[in-house]
Amino acid sequence: MCGIVGYIGSRPVYPLLVEGLKRLEYRGYDSAGVAICDTTARIYKCSGKIRDLEASVSGKDTQGTAGIGHTRWATHGKPNDVNAHPHVSGNGHFILVHNGIIENYSVLKAKLQDRGYTFKSETDTEVLVNLIEYIYLKGKTEAEVAVRLALTKVAGTYGIVVICNDEPGQLIAARRSSPLVIGIGAGEYFIASDTSPLAGQVQSVIYMNDDDVAIIKRNELVLKTLATDEPRIKLHNLNIDTGEFDKGGYDHYMLKEIFEQPVSITNTFRGRLLPDKNEIRLGGLFHVMPRLQEAGRIIIVACGTSWHAGLIGEYLIEDLARIPVEVEYASEFRYRNPVVGPGDVVIAISQSGETADTLAAVRLAREAGALVLGICNVTGSSLSRETDAGVYTHAGFEIGVASTKAFTAQVTVLIMTALLLGYKKGSLTKEQYASFIGELDSIPASIEKILADNEFYLNLAKEFKDFPSFIFLGRGYCFPVALEGALKLKEISYIHAEGYPAAEMKHGPIALMDENMPVVVLALKDKSYDKIISNLQEIKARKARIIAIVNEGDTLVPDIADRVISIPAGSVIFSALLAVIPMQLIAYHISVMRGCDVDQPRNLAKSVTVE
Ligand code: G6P
Repeated sequence: MCGIVGYIGSRPVYPLLVEGLKRLEYRGYDSAGVAICDTTARIYKCSGKIRDLEASVSGKDTQGTAGIGHTRWATHGKPNDVNAHPHVSGNGHFILVHNGIIENYSVLKAKLQDRGYTFKSETDTEVLVNLIEYIYLKGKTEAEVAVRLALTKVAGTYGIVVICNDEPGQLIAARRSSPLVIGIGAGEYFIASDTSPLAGQVQSVIYMNDDDVAIIKRNELVLKTLATDEPRIKLHNLNIDTGEFDKGGYDHYMLKEIFEQPVSITNTFRGRLLPDKNEIRLGGLFHVMPRLQEAGRIIIVACGTSWHAGLIGEYLIEDLARIPVEVEYASEFRYRNPVVGPGDVVIAISQSGETADTLAAVRLAREAGALVLGICNVTGSSLSRETDAGVYTHAGFEIGVASTKAFTAQVTVLIMTALLLGYKKGSLTKEQYASFIGELDSIPASIEKILADNEFYLNLAKEFKDFPSFIFLGRGYCFPVALEGALKLKEISYIHAEGYPAAEMKHGPIALMDENMPVVVLALKDKSYDKIISNLQEIKARKARIIAIVNEGDTLVPDIADRVISIPAGSVIFSALLAVIPMQLIAYHISVMRGCDVDQPRNLAKSVTVE
């Protein structure tokens, strides 16, 4: 949460900062600001989005070739102009942007207040910038020393970029838990929360590690750690198609990403799923496969939509490979003293690879001696660097805050992993394995078929957009899909929605059912089909409005449900990949019709780098 961008070089900095912030806006969009600081610093900031910042800056002096920018997801203090970053120290020596939380800010603030500092904002960040200045002035030291000393006094998380007005021509960056990546050009450097602002600008990047401090000048980059002056520089190539940042003719990124799924899923299994050879090859897991096969237990940790993918992973791995699986919210796992050790394999799933709770769960599991694997979309992310091995989902940049193509890519990786494990462990025959491989290969074409009915979903959305509450029900593989359907609707349309296992409805949700309650029921042809038909009857008897998702050719459900959505028939293990698409489309269209901000829903952010 919160996006940081910085630049120092010879190009006009303001357009680079604004363009960079737009690409990082998914990380938070409560307020935005920039500081342009070649000689005298100019700071512009306001509540609202980057376009509000641009409007407020219009006509002002933006000349300069060095500066920093920030887009905020509020933690401490309301999203107003004063709390917006950059923050300036009391005597004006330092300017700072920050992503993270300074947990001991109130203690530090009180100490600084005792020493005469006053505070304009309610933020923890203003405490940090003043602490740096206090140490700088008291110790009569260099800016870099003051920053490093101040950071040793801080508890919490940070990615920061600091400018010292007395030492122009230099950016100082540091990270602990909040990501920062340095882009290296000819006589110029970028710094950003992720690689998106660097795409099309530089070819080489350095991912900063925890406790790294970077001193960045126009022609010099020095990387140290908080504790030592030892440089640790590892260059990575950056290869991102800047076309990924366009909406590609769609009204919203989310719609573009929904429609990209036939291609993104193909990209996920490209080179890994080999139908001609009846093989699955997951290079990232090659070396750990023996340990994975022998695992006494697999624990999947994740948050949000990735946690829903994890639940599907549990069903898949237990069903196909017969290895016990537990799925945990990373935030619960990390704090509940879990029993985990060398016999376990922990799989962390994260689109961004930067979710704070998921990373903390990974660290805990590694310390306990478990083999830790990652399923991650963003290359070079913290997750990809902190796990023992893993699989990239290759879904491409996902910009809409509500996850769509990243989810189906995660499920695709989990299907391939479960199939490979099942085959290697002998719980799947060669014939079953080959048949599933062929079917997975045909999933993108089935998704194309569902997407071709977009008009139908538009009309369905028109009919149901004004209901205040929805229930989503499913059994087996379709239960996590029901959870995901409810999450999609609530996060982008602000309609209350609950997902439930269909049989559990009798233990609570049925009390809510009447003619004002739409119930979305996944009624696919699997082993619990007869049971779900009974559930549909029970719902109908309470006069609730049923929207049923069925397999093509279903003849029973249309007689019971008010509206029927047909998706291609197939093996139950692929249910999630197909059944989630109508739910994404319904949520999208309802959100648009209700005038909500589809791509940047209120209070949410895509990358949750705070606890
Ligand atoms: C936020 C996003 C969700 C995402 C979740 C986990 O809540 O809005 O879309 O599923 O974080 O993020 P991750 O990057 O770890 O998958």
